[in-house]
Amino acid sequence: MIPPASVFLSKKTLHKIVRCVSFPPAAATYDPFVYRLGLQVFILARGVRLPHGSPFSSKPPPCGGFFVYAIRVISFFSWGPPTVTALQKAEAIRARKGGSPIAVLTAYDYPTARLLDEGGIDVLLVGDSLGMVVLGFPDTTQVTLDHMLHHVAAVARAKPRALIVGDLPIHTYDTPEQALETAVRLVAAGAEAVKLEGGVRQAEKIRVITAAGIPVMGHLGMLPQRVLEEGGYRKKGKTPEQAEAIREGAQAIIDAGVFAIVFESIVPQTASLLAPLLAVPIIGIGCGDRTCDGEVAVVTDLLGSYPWFVPPFATPEADIAGATRGAVERFIKRVTSISS
Ligand code: KIV
Repeated sequence: MIPPASVFLSKKTLHKIVRCVSFPPAAATYDPFVYRLGLQVFILARGVRLPHGSPFSSKPPPCGGFFVYAIRVISFFSWGPPTVTALQKAEAIRARKGGSPIAVLTAYDYPTARLLDEGGIDVLLVGDSLGMVVLGFPDTTQVTLDHMLHHVAAVARAKPRALIVGDLPIHTYDTPEQALETAVRLVAAGAEAVKLEGGVRQAEKIRVITAAGIPVMGHLGMLPQRVLEEGGYRKKGKTPEQAEAIREGAQAIIDAGVFAIVFESIVPQTASLLAPLLAVPIIGIGCGDRTCDGEVAVVTDLLGSYPWFVPPFATPEADIAGATRGAVERFIKRVTSISS
């Protein structure tokens, strides 16, 4: 821990430093470690002018006054850098359209959220896939708002740098008023943005939620909340008419204010045709490799921790189920060999 800058720096240098630590509006590159390191290097270099727009931008903070600056520096060393707001995080994701691909994983609990965040994930989606991979339901249609609030709060306790998006569960956004009330409750539980399924018919709800300052992510293509009506999970966008309906839905929810859209199970040709035409990042799942601006995976598919059903498009990167079974076996052996 180095002492507060004011202990050993002149007023002029201190002034420069605090100008440099004023936070840029687009926080895409925000990383507390790099931020601290950069500031310390800057202190040592004394007077180096850093490029505008970097996390160490020379753009002045919105409020002036030497004492405000000094308090910022001292509080930086005591408590870390200033908080990035949910709107800034969502805007940083939106601004990556056409830039670096966006990596999204679902998370439903505190330790997983912490681990994924430490790994550098961009967005943590507390998806209603929770119903299947955590709560043991056959699909997402039995997930309630209370389930979602419980798990959003657990993820939020990890205080991730990644944006926390919470799904609005089925029948909690049947009207614009109900949609807003549900979104507000998810935010009160710790969500920083919400996601809902559907196109044109959801535009008004999205307008109302975004007008309240809550970022909204859309979800098009295969809609898991409609699985019972549709009689199963089917690929979407197979015909030009279906592709056009998806494009229309996407445009309607973009106009209503979504900052990103999930494309689920849309055939690769259609996904890769539509994604570049749309003004916000398209995050694909089951749409083929690199057809969209980013990808989302259900964390249990990635980790191999839900072996009883693995979607055909999933690419597990670990075998947590196998590791768990092995650990249980070894534990039982250890316990039984002690007692006999
Ligand atoms: O609920 C969820 O996990 C989702 C993803 C599959 C996108 O909506």
